[in-house]
Amino acid sequence: MNRLLELQRVCATANKDAKSTEKSLLPFRKQLQFLYGYVLGFLMALTTLLCYDRFLLQTAQLRQHSTATENWQTGYQTALQQLKSDANTLQQQLAAEVRVLCMVLTTPAQHETRAAHVKATWGKRCTRLIFLSSAADVELGAVPVVDSATDKYELLWHKVQQGFRYVYARYYADYDWFLKADDDTYVIMENLRYSLYAYDPETPVFFGYELLQLNVTYMSGGAGYVLSKEAFSRVVTTGFNNETLCPPTKYALPEDYCMSICLQNVGALPVDGRFIRSSENKQTFFPLQLTDFMDSNETLSSGDWIDRLTPYTVDWGLNCCSNYSISFHYTDPAIMYLYEFFIYHLRAVGLPQPRDPLPDKIDYAELLSRFSNERNTTDPWMPIKWVQVP
Ligand SMILES: *[C@@H]1O[C@H](CO)[C@@H](O)[C@H](O)[C@H]1NC(C)=O
Ligand SMILES: *[C@@H]1O[C@H](CO)[C@@H](O)[C@H](O)[C@H]1NC(C)=O
Ligand SMILES: *[C@@H]1O[C@H](CO)[C@@H](O)[C@H](O)[C@H]1NC(C)=O
Ligand SMILES: *[C@@H]1O[C@H](CO)[C@@H](O)[C@H](O)[C@H]1NC(C)=O
Ligand SMILES: *[C@@H]1O[C@H](CO)[C@@H](O)[C@H](O)[C@H]1NC(C)=O
Repeated sequence: MNRLLELQRVCATANKDAKSTEKSLLPFRKQLQFLYGYVLGFLMALTTLLCYDRFLLQTAQLRQHSTATENWQTGYQTALQQLKSDANTLQQQLAAEVRVLCMVLTTPAQHETRAAHVKATWGKRCTRLIFLSSAADVELGAVPVVDSATDKYELLWHKVQQGFRYVYARYYADYDWFLKADDDTYVIMENLRYSLYAYDPETPVFFGYELLQLNVTYMSGGAGYVLSKEAFSRVVTTGFNNETLCPPTKYALPEDYCMSICLQNVGALPVDGRFIRSSENKQTFFPLQLTDFMDSNETLSSGDWIDRLTPYTVDWGLNCCSNYSISFHYTDPAIMYLYEFFIYHLRAVGLPQPRDPLPDKIDYAELLSRFSNERNTTDPWMPIKWVQVP
């Protein structure tokens, strides 16, 4: 018990001692705390200062760097745009605004020998390419629009009508212009789009190489002809099946002759390719191949029909054709690749690249005032009478 009390007393004394030691240490600790705070504050201030300086430096560097990057990017973009300008951007704009569905007449026997080469060359530049045939070929993109028994040259008018009906039923909504070409026609799609850009696809109009036979104006089928959306709609929905407006398909009449009668009888304006670009009076659609126009002697002996049937003076030689020519007929596959090479590959070093400004838009009133003939779309007219071509 005593021992226990003793222990308590010792403990109490020890406690008191500790407290008194604490008390004696207090001023020193305060000083130490102050010093510690002072040093810490100094260090913090120093760090802050250093950091802030570094921050300023970094910000400046960053700003400089980003400005340089921006400048570089802007410069690069500008340079790229400069490079692309007039080539790609014009192409992109035209491709988006002038959507052309190409209908290429072919037969199963010519899928391999001709149609495939159309697809490998100019055909791939159409917004959509469809081969009108009598047999399906999924890889080629050929559809049977007639059966093989009726796939004859004499019944071409029937086949073209069936082809137009097929395309109208499935694709009408998504395209602005509808081109009909043969599997031996070569088309420079860029120039077609460029020329069509001026026109409103909602106006009834069609373009091609104009011929005149038996008082009928018509567009050569081999050179290819292109219909506005409105002309296409009218000829399919109003023209076909009406024997007053369109020659019946049972007769062995040329499809181009019939189609043009039909189109004019539903109020579509025929416009010769030489007038498609208003700034120029040079033909753009050609019912012969280009070499024929370059050798006037050969043409005079073999192609006098063209002088006879063309209602304008035919030009020959280097002066024959618009610099923005659109199509050539009688183009064998080898010549198609020749055109491809000359147009899209061959470079003559150092030639200046002229700019091609987009043509001004032409509205319906202007179209009528420029191209209307005696058969105006607004007035009632006597349908063109179709007659058998002798
Ligand atoms: C062509 O038109 C003219 C004048 O309108 C007329 O005299 C001539 O008989 C017509 N020819 C044919 C083949 O219809
Ligand atoms: C065919 O067209 C003519 C001339 O526009 C019209 O008078 C006639 O009613 C049409 N026929 C049919 C069956 O639509
Ligand atoms: C065309 O024929 C004439 C006479 O035969 C000849 O003098 C001329 O050189 C020929 N021109 C060409 C381009 O072949
Ligand atoms: C067609 O191109 C040639 C060669 O660049 C040029 O001399 C000629 O003037 C051009 N023609 C037109 C109508 O622009
Ligand atoms: C056809 O239209 C044009 C332009 O609107 C007009 O000047 C001309 O007199 C019209 N022709 C006929 C035969 O009505």
